[in-house]
Amino acid sequence: MIAFDRAEPKSEARRELATVDPMSGIPLDPGSAVRQALGSEVLEFVDQWIERREQAPASWPDPDRHLVEALLRPPGADAQELAPLLELIDQATNTGFDTANPGFLSYIPSGGLYTAALGALIGSITNQFTGGAHASPGMTALEESVVRWMTDLFGLPSSAGGVLVSGGSIANLIAVVTARSRLGDHFADGVIYTSTGTHHSIHKAARIAGISASRVRLIDVDQRLRLDPAALQQAMTKDAQRGLRPLMIVANAGTTDTGAIDPLSACAEIAAETGAWFHTDAAYGGFFQLTERGQERLDGIERADSITVDAHKSLFLPFGIGGLLMRDRSAVVDAHEGAGAYMQDISSGDLPHYMEMGPELTRPNRGVQVWLSLQLHGVERFRVELDRMLDLTTSAAEHLEAIPGIEFADTPQLTVVAFRAASGDDQTRTLLDVLLDSREVHVSSTTIDGDLYVRFAFLSQHTTSEIVERAIAIVKGAMGLTNSTT
Ligand SMILES: Cc1ncc(COP(=O)(O)O)c(C=O)c1O
Repeated sequence: MIAFDRAEPKSEARRELATVDPMSGIPLDPGSAVRQALGSEVLEFVDQWIERREQAPASWPDPDRHLVEALLRPPGADAQELAPLLELIDQATNTGFDTANPGFLSYIPSGGLYTAALGALIGSITNQFTGGAHASPGMTALEESVVRWMTDLFGLPSSAGGVLVSGGSIANLIAVVTARSRLGDHFADGVIYTSTGTHHSIHKAARIAGISASRVRLIDVDQRLRLDPAALQQAMTKDAQRGLRPLMIVANAGTTDTGAIDPLSACAEIAAETGAWFHTDAAYGGFFQLTERGQERLDGIERADSITVDAHKSLFLPFGIGGLLMRDRSAVVDAHEGAGAYMQDISSGDLPHYMEMGPELTRPNRGVQVWLSLQLHGVERFRVELDRMLDLTTSAAEHLEAIPGIEFADTPQLTVVAFRAASGDDQTRTLLDVLLDSREVHVSSTTIDGDLYVRFAFLSQHTTSEIVERAIAIVKGAMGLTNSTT
């Protein structure tokens, strides 16, 4: 097992920490020397961790009972030393999988950019309140610069706004609540239309928002797993005849299963004709808009009333940063603003109060994380990386296509390749097991039209063409073509 190397002689930091009285531990407000000692020891730990990532397996065996027991142990009254705690944290990370590992091709990978993690450190230490602009106009402006960059990226008008939230699920929830509130207090006749490939967070959002499952209409998809606009139109007409009202249309800009992109322009057209709110779930696919190929494929997204994005997916940031962008900021404010006597001193100004744009009042400073990464790397670097992900996907699909007996759910529309053994689920299951057992790559599966599929998803900046080659070699081995270890 790869472990944090605590035998290494540690610099000044370790010596400084040794001066802390072990009986009383570190005070809640440590002085500068101890702060720096703690900081450098933690930075040294994460640095070693990152250095080892390339050699680390794509997934780990289940943790043994002793480790789980040690991790479950509650904190005691007495202070502990940092070094053994870091060692325990290290062991905790050597379980399950690392979603930014070069071989992580499961679900939707997440890059965990270091620069954004430094932004999180700054955000936590400065601990500015960004729920209301009055509390930190500076940090609000900084976050707003990120939001405006995003709304501009999608071609939304100057009335647009947005809010950074914990991820796509909460962004989708805010969109559903906003669309629902347009129907007034009595919305039992309101219907949400979306495709069979939509992420479950939309269903969850509807349930939380008090919308019955019978009011969520799942529209059929075409051969390429994209929502069928003719079927949508038909369903809406039928519902209108029954006296139901259109609440919203949810289109996907990259489904989780296969990366399918619904016909956004056609959906926008139908939404305009019927008066439905037009939401696009671009949690996975959104930032491909930075690339030329992405812009072509996401055509029509600029007509959305709201767009869910996830910086912790297609901007490679660490978990905890998604966003909801809105064509008209006032719609979301109407649905979410609140008041309390304890807030009567809050003034209004040109900058938004993010607490009026979702369920959160107090929130982590997500803006500084996105801002620091975009500023330090420059936007162009993200475009190049997303283009590289698209290229890796094309290459993987071409190699897989050359393997006899492999078939696809669809030609990849973004960076997911969903494939199976044409002979059926048994061999596809073997394929999946062999890939997972290799621990060189980690993949996930899905079911489409009752058939099992293996998915390769490319969205970690650490994934290289060598990993694609290894994955292909393992697939060939599992299909009985070559020795997978060569
Ligand atoms: C298309 C889509 N929408 C929404 C979500 C939910 O996002 P989160 O996990 O950030 O809440 C996901 C997550 O994978 C997704 O792929």
